[in-house]
Amino acid sequence: MGAMEVIIQSDKRQASLLGARIIARQVQKKPNAALGFATGKTPLLLYQFLVQMHREKELDFSRVTAFNLDEYIGLDPSHPASFHSYMWQNLFGPIAIREDKVNIPNGMAADIPAACRKFEETIKSSGGIDIQILGIGRDGHIGFNEPSSSLTSRTRIKTLTAETRRDHGQEFGGDEKVPFHVITMGLGTIMEARTCLLLAFGKEKARPIAQTIEGPITAMVPASILQLHQRAIVLLDEEAAAELTKIDYYRWVYGHKPDWQKY
Ligand code: PGA
Repeated sequence: MGAMEVIIQSDKRQASLLGARIIARQVQKKPNAALGFATGKTPLLLYQFLVQMHREKELDFSRVTAFNLDEYIGLDPSHPASFHSYMWQNLFGPIAIREDKVNIPNGMAADIPAACRKFEETIKSSGGIDIQILGIGRDGHIGFNEPSSSLTSRTRIKTLTAETRRDHGQEFGGDEKVPFHVITMGLGTIMEARTCLLLAFGKEKARPIAQTIEGPITAMVPASILQLHQRAIVLLDEEAAAELTKIDYYRWVYGHKPDWQKY
């Protein structure tokens, strides 16, 4: 494949199950795979399916290396709204990933640029990320690469937009408590993952998804860089797919996928 593969499912449960199957296949094929994880509401069901597969002994994550896209700067990892907390609670704890194999950007580092460089080096020394899971912001961000991010950026400090801070206000008990700064993998970093798996559900994602898949490649819609990726899979529910102009074509292509290419 050398294109974005757009897969539209009837609802987010079906799309998440398919996403979990893609991850499961990777881990079965390569037990020491490096997986990149995302936070937010979108991947929660996919993580529940992975937890279920682990409980039913279909999947063993003991040799997997985990990376995460981003973390807030200056927030203690034990804070309930940190992405460390989110990952251990929703996935890493239940699937028993080894702590020494978990790599989440260190937002408490005294030297943030050095921590960013070390994060990049750790990705390289793990052999590179096999599958990077991504959500998308209403403004088209992936990771915390907000609009105007360099399309070749590496792991670095970013300042959140007011909209993104509002979107996270609930987790902090008030918009004003959301940190302004984060560490995020860059778009160049994300593009080096061998597979990118972008998930988007609900009508508020319809516009950024149409821009990402069918619009121009632009730093104003950071996810649009995925048009240049060799293997980007986009898993959507009907609502998130609603503004795609080539929707019938995507459905036809997926419906006629040769057996050997099926997930
Ligand atoms: P969400 O966040 O999954 O909570 O919608 C996605 C994002 O902002 O990247």
